[in-house]
Amino acid sequence: MDIMGNKNEWDSNLAFILAMIGSAVGLGNIWRYPYVLYSNGGGEFYIPYLIAILVLAIPFTILEYGVGYNYKSSFTKAIININPKLEYYGWILPVVVFIMTIYYSTIIGWDGIYFILSFFKGWGSDPNTFLSHNILHSTNSLGGIFHFLPLVALSMLVVWFIVWLISHKNLEDGLGKVSKIFVPILFITMIIIVIYSLTLPGANIGLNELFKPDYEALWNIDIWVAAFGQIFFSLSLGMGAGFTYASYTKKDIDLVTSGLYVVIANSLFENFAAFGVFATLGHMSLQSGIPIEKIVSEGASLIFVTYPQIFNVLGVIALILGPLFFFTVYVAGITSMLSSFEVLSISIQNKFNMTRKKTTSILVLVGALASMIYATSCGEYILTITDNFVNNFVVIFSVIIECILFTWIFKAEKLIKFLNSKSKTLKLGKWWIILLKYIIPILLCILWVEGINDIIKDTNNQYMLIFVILLAILLIFTLILTVLKPKSQNWFKTEERIK
Ligand code: ALA
Repeated sequence: MDIMGNKNEWDSNLAFILAMIGSAVGLGNIWRYPYVLYSNGGGEFYIPYLIAILVLAIPFTILEYGVGYNYKSSFTKAIININPKLEYYGWILPVVVFIMTIYYSTIIGWDGIYFILSFFKGWGSDPNTFLSHNILHSTNSLGGIFHFLPLVALSMLVVWFIVWLISHKNLEDGLGKVSKIFVPILFITMIIIVIYSLTLPGANIGLNELFKPDYEALWNIDIWVAAFGQIFFSLSLGMGAGFTYASYTKKDIDLVTSGLYVVIANSLFENFAAFGVFATLGHMSLQSGIPIEKIVSEGASLIFVTYPQIFNVLGVIALILGPLFFFTVYVAGITSMLSSFEVLSISIQNKFNMTRKKTTSILVLVGALASMIYATSCGEYILTITDNFVNNFVVIFSVIIECILFTWIFKAEKLIKFLNSKSKTLKLGKWWIILLKYIIPILLCILWVEGINDIIKDTNNQYMLIFVILLAILLIFTLILTVLKPKSQNWFKTEERIK
């Protein structure tokens, strides 16, 4: 319990692991991964994907957990303890992750609408036109900024209300309880959907298409970049969620094995989702005679166009499967959003000695208001740019710094003895340090340059304008949080748990 009466500790290690799985398994697993797998050579993709897990995901996850556990405090406070001059950097990550939380709420909001529609297939016979004309009224420019979408806004406000309901409570009554109930439900509903889709006539057509050999693909750098990028996003590596959740653990925790569980569960979930998606696409292709490559898509259109099209050909069973599917996406989204929301929230609680209730209430209000920009006709357009800004530009850059800080200045070697003494599975050795000190920063630099290349390819004047506005918002808010005087007397000093 801290001096403000916030009880920030999981009641069990299981609560930590489930909350971490809830944080990792999100929209990235359902609407991003199936397409990434398919468009990068299908079966061959598993080679770079597995290497990305071994080289990047496992070592980095353990590092984040270890440092978070050691400081038992927010990301920002830990950074200050590593070097007090770095406070500005310490706020960049929480603020940018909060910006991500804001647009994440939009996608969950869209999903909320489709959850209701799925009970009566309310998208009609042409889901594509329905999404663009009836729901999003999308324009590919800033022209639509004054066209407000009340239904989307309402659905997003519901999302923020749910986040407030859970986050303002003590950790165990809110996040802990929700993770213990909803993360198992998430897996159960996904398994039901996938098993059903595998029994559909034509499922094998989809799976064959997914795994169609393409040995050439491996020689293309893009497939490697895609694998590392996917692992990065899907596990929310370096976004502070793992760091924050690990700081809430009790003394006696096996962080190495917990990290392995989280990485494995996340991969199982996304591969399960991919099988389900392609089995159902195979069925649809059989029914409609349209080849799979013409139906498959990613992102918003996979979930809100392709899936409704599939439910349209499925008959009555779709009235059960549809709500189940959109509910699964909703839960996956909310549990991920809760973890990214927590990163800024706990940093503010730490610096300004504010209660969890007050902090979350203010942040939910700010987030909900800011999110209204996405409830306009150009919401989808701005969202795509914000997503690029956050994931391809700021987060990767910030993680390169994080990696350097935690290994070169904090000296991750300090953690090995403790982590190994608790670990019942993997034992860390020199290889762990070498990966973190040299290999991962180099790989991340390549990812970063590739990401910037993609951004440059897409830009036009409006794109640049939004990009600059986002950068200004990030830098200004970070500055404000840095220069405001701390209310907490021990903001600049934290006991380290690992001596
Ligand atoms: N890890 C989260 C996801 O996959 C952000 O969506």
